[in-house]
Amino acid sequence: MPATESLTQRQFDRIATIAKHRWGLALTPQKRQLVTSRLLSFMRGAPFEDVDAYLAHLEAGKDERALLSFFDTLSTNVTSFFRDRAHFDYLERELFTGLARGTLSLPGRRLRMWSAGCSTGCEPYTMAMVAYDRLESAGGWDVQILATDLSNYAVEEASAGAYEWDSVKDLPRETLRRHFEERDGRWRVRPHLRQMVKVGQLNLMEDWPMRGPFDVIFCRNVMIYFDGPTRERLVRRFLGLLRPGGVFAVGSAETLAGMDLDVRSVMPSLYVK
Ligand SMILES: C[S@@+](CC[C@H](N)C(=O)[O-])C[C@H]1O[C@@H](n2cnc3c(N)ncnc32)[C@H](O)[C@@H]1O
Repeated sequence: MPATESLTQRQFDRIATIAKHRWGLALTPQKRQLVTSRLLSFMRGAPFEDVDAYLAHLEAGKDERALLSFFDTLSTNVTSFFRDRAHFDYLERELFTGLARGTLSLPGRRLRMWSAGCSTGCEPYTMAMVAYDRLESAGGWDVQILATDLSNYAVEEASAGAYEWDSVKDLPRETLRRHFEERDGRWRVRPHLRQMVKVGQLNLMEDWPMRGPFDVIFCRNVMIYFDGPTRERLVRRFLGLLRPGGVFAVGSAETLAGMDLDVRSVMPSLYVK
């Protein structure tokens, strides 16, 4: 396709409408440069005559694969193990330790966590490492972590659970040894972690198949791309699936301030229902 060097305002508005309605993403005018470069580089390999033909194809809404590829070009998958470590320290201190010692209990010794917008899996596998290290020796705990994302790339990577050295190099050596094994130059989460994490593809803007209740829900650094009303609607849906006393975390640059919710803030960006 002949790559034009820029998008017209009308084309950008059409993209913004698709992104908002399908995925909740609010593409502000400041994003125009980024969207333009990602779209044009994506279009170089795509079988469309021009940007308008491509946008018309997406707007028709029939080609889920094309829509998901487009989402992948727009979304940001930045993540890391133990990102915003204080959240994991809180879980370890206030939840897992109590469960291991028996000062806290959960029905059926079942612990259910959800990493919503999990990207390539660092967040759910961090949850798994911390839970495993605290609860394994306590025995008899059924821990499951649901890890969902809409991005094809993210879901594939999280499912593989295999990482470049760069992603794991800052982990303490003992943590690395216990939870990862090196194969073919990649660091793979060991089966005990992989088994705890169930990876699925889910658009947070659509219906959710799961019923909950969850004990912990993390939706961190996902809603920053959504507008206020979309964010609040989503937070209410998350809280509807969280058990009373359950933990809800957002990204460190995010807050639930201004939403009238049945939660208390226990530390920055972390709440208890
Ligand atoms: C910056 S990453 C955050 C990863 C991880 N939660 C963390 O904090 O490190 C944001 C993720 O949200 C996902 N995302 C954005 N909009 C989404 C939607 N509507 N449904 C599901 N996932 C979405 C993106 O694909 C991306 O992987």
